[in-house]
Amino acid sequence: MCGIVGYVGGRPCRDLLVAGLEKLEYRGYDSAGIALLENGSIDTVRAVGNLANLRAAVGMDGDGNGGVAVAAPPATIGLAHTRWATHGRVTEENAHPHGDCDDRVQIVLNGIVENHSELRRELAADGHTFSSETDAEIVAHLIERHYDGDLTEAVRATFNDLRGHYAFAAMHADQPDTLVGARQECPLVAGLGDGESFLASAIPAFLAQTRDVLLIENGEIVTIDREGARITDAAGTPVSRDAEEVTWDEGTAEKGGYPTFMMKEIHEQPDAVAETIADRLPTTDGVDLSELELDDDLIARIRRIVIVACGTSYHAGLVGRYAIEQWARIPVEMDIASEYRYRDPVVGPDDLVIGITQSGETADTLAAMRLARERGATVLAITNIMGSQATRDSDAVLFTRAGLEIGVAATKTFTAQVAAMYLLGLWLAKARGGLGPDRIAELIAELKHVPSRIEETLESVDDRVRAIARSHASQRFFLYLGRNIGLPVCLEGALKLKEISYIPTDAYAAGEMKHGPIALLDESTPVVCVATDSPVLEKVLSNVAEVRARGADVVAVATEGSTEAAEASDQVLFVPRTDWVLQPILAILPLQLLAYYIARLNDLNVDQPRNLAKTVTVE
Ligand code: G6P
Repeated sequence: MCGIVGYVGGRPCRDLLVAGLEKLEYRGYDSAGIALLENGSIDTVRAVGNLANLRAAVGMDGDGNGGVAVAAPPATIGLAHTRWATHGRVTEENAHPHGDCDDRVQIVLNGIVENHSELRRELAADGHTFSSETDAEIVAHLIERHYDGDLTEAVRATFNDLRGHYAFAAMHADQPDTLVGARQECPLVAGLGDGESFLASAIPAFLAQTRDVLLIENGEIVTIDREGARITDAAGTPVSRDAEEVTWDEGTAEKGGYPTFMMKEIHEQPDAVAETIADRLPTTDGVDLSELELDDDLIARIRRIVIVACGTSYHAGLVGRYAIEQWARIPVEMDIASEYRYRDPVVGPDDLVIGITQSGETADTLAAMRLARERGATVLAITNIMGSQATRDSDAVLFTRAGLEIGVAATKTFTAQVAAMYLLGLWLAKARGGLGPDRIAELIAELKHVPSRIEETLESVDDRVRAIARSHASQRFFLYLGRNIGLPVCLEGALKLKEISYIPTDAYAAGEMKHGPIALLDESTPVVCVATDSPVLEKVLSNVAEVRARGADVVAVATEGSTEAAEASDQVLFVPRTDWVLQPILAILPLQLLAYYIARLNDLNVDQPRNLAKTVTVE
């Protein structure tokens, strides 16, 4: 996903902008660029590849003689961008910023302009010439067309010409003290400093400079200068909004002593889960989710719950489905958001639709939530990001409190989401009388122990997982098998391995294996089996026997002390005993570590796997 950083103030900004882009690197990108305005003209430099190439191109490295040095290092206003190619190949011409015909305007854009072909045709007929294949470039030409001495008005007119989901920022050579941004569905935030302001697609881009943040909403235009920011809507009406102070400490955005963000985040899971459950379990038998402000009537009449999500969040939803059905006895349907939104789903006022999205910005999940809401369902968002779009597209929000997750592969946000689903399951069980008070108290006590058990697990399995990773790091395929509540753990474990180590994996309901996937097995196939305690443990173990009979090498994740599981498998990774419904939040840990160590043994960049970005806001 692309990244935007803009600065206007009193300091030379080239290095500030590049430092801002570095903070957004985790989002994934394939090229980058910067535009600086000084003495009435704009210098733009773009480079394919990583930021080192951009740094070299602007002469930031070594003796400063490398590449095409930007002629305006003292410039105090500029825009910068990391591009994740959507429209147009990965080339220098297609990298942002993009300019108009006379290079008076420069823009950077995230997202997609859907009506770009039609606008490009119109602009070309008017005599505009283009230098890239991107949809973004048309925005610079539209601003050129509309500009009449006021950049904010030109951006507003441009904004009203566009269809799609995007955020962009623009500057004009005639207005050396102003940057203007606009937002429709893609994130945009302003940072307010002392005599300087920032625009960015995410807060970390300027967090080292200021903590005062103004969240820009859909349909808004924001104008920043040294004095601050002014927001207006698409019609030009001023919008008043107070800045918020971000409380993340700076270290959150650093690796904190671990070799990678992913490892740091794996080890932040005890905290992420503890924070998420802390004040929501105030007594031995009570779950306090009054923050949802969902009325009792609604809870009493819900006919069905539908969970929509993508990727890892979808897997957290699958765990939640078992917990809610098991405890609250409310039927739960699960859907992949990108399927749900196009299915013309049957959904209405008696349904509670839960959208799970750690970023709160995944386009498919947001669209699915909106569709359900339009059809009368009550929509609950589970997200990690305050102020994200999901918080605005829902009737209620349950925040996970995992902190910022930089590694692209979700780890701590997953376990925090699972913890949130457990809270919800217990809360619904209590409200609907699905479980008696004693059983609720028992589960709450177990849930409160989960953070320390996560810590214990990470510690106790590490050496063994490393050894297993070493013996399997060069395998070409892994099969993951599980049943019931173990199945989502397999799906998530298999996703982790494929996304960071690029090793093909399949995750299957173990009972289905005999209907096809068993053909994949030979003597060299590693099979990871989730065989923690559950009512179906025996069945899982008989599936393990079928697999071993074909010579496959079985690594089982099992509950501490389970001699049956240890005997049935070649290698076993034990996790502490807890209630069987809670077991997935522990069982995933060795599988995260396994994926991690295999990827590291293969010398791969676990924080930023190829072809993947953290927040998917484009389709
Ligand atoms: C991307 C990420 C996944 C993530 C998914 C959903 O594909 O690579 O790790 O699970 O988006 O993201 P969300 O922010 O909606 O949870």
